[in-house]
Amino acid sequence: MTVLAILTAAGSGTRLGRDLPKALVELGGFPLVLHAARRLAASGVVDRIVVTAPPGLTAAMSDVVTADAHVVRPVRVVDGGPTRQASVAAGLALAGGDDDVVLVHDAARPLASPELVRRVVAAVRAGHPAVVPGQPVTDTIKRVSPAPVSAPPTSGPAAAGPAVERVVETPDRALLRAVQTPQGFDRALLERAHAAGAARAGAEHLAATDDAGLVEALGETVHVVAGEESALKITTERDLAVAHLLLEERA
Ligand code: C5P
Repeated sequence: MTVLAILTAAGSGTRLGRDLPKALVELGGFPLVLHAARRLAASGVVDRIVVTAPPGLTAAMSDVVTADAHVVRPVRVVDGGPTRQASVAAGLALAGGDDDVVLVHDAARPLASPELVRRVVAAVRAGHPAVVPGQPVTDTIKRVSPAPVSAPPTSGPAAAGPAVERVVETPDRALLRAVQTPQGFDRALLERAHAAGAARAGAEHLAATDDAGLVEALGETVHVVAGEESALKITTERDLAVAHLLLEERA
């Protein structure tokens, strides 16, 4: 019985504004995807890694991850798809019969620690077939109506105000979690969730932003373990600067 980690690295990362895909952007001298692969390997609980690469960059991604002395796990690199969900599905297609647990992890979270990887796998092994790391949120979160609300009638000439959305709900903050990766799954459940998700995506042109959401859509239970600050997601230059600070703190 083995653990396969799918490391999603096929995004373009346009919000970082570099010429490179985000996973190949460097942090402290190493590409983000390599940081993530090294920490997966250092957990000691991951047997194999499949990396999803952007179109045309499979060889470049292979050069980065397959020869690294710290990864020391069999690594395969496959072409990702047009959405994150499609990329995970491409990785999942390479799962072997022995892989009873599948982790899905974003290269965009390069500093997720080996301890976090072990916590997620341990929860799956303890009998929870879908597990995500989550952090309490500090902001009050509102759900809004996507449709703009027309301005109330005014007596004088209408001033053009800023765009507005209508608040629909304020969920209890104590019960909210900001969810991270790696997310861990019983392989058969994740395969079932992706098959159903692919059918829906075809019909509705929607793609899930995380794998646990696909499991929830099946009506199955997802459990949360404690996340961590260092598993932050890198989207902007500012996130990269924060990750740099965290890396220096831990050096
Ligand atoms: O775009 P975003 O930052 O939400 O992507 C999350 C992760 O999914 C990143 O690691 C990115 O490389 C990956 N991804 C992918 N295939 C896509 C889009 C995103 O593997 N088509």
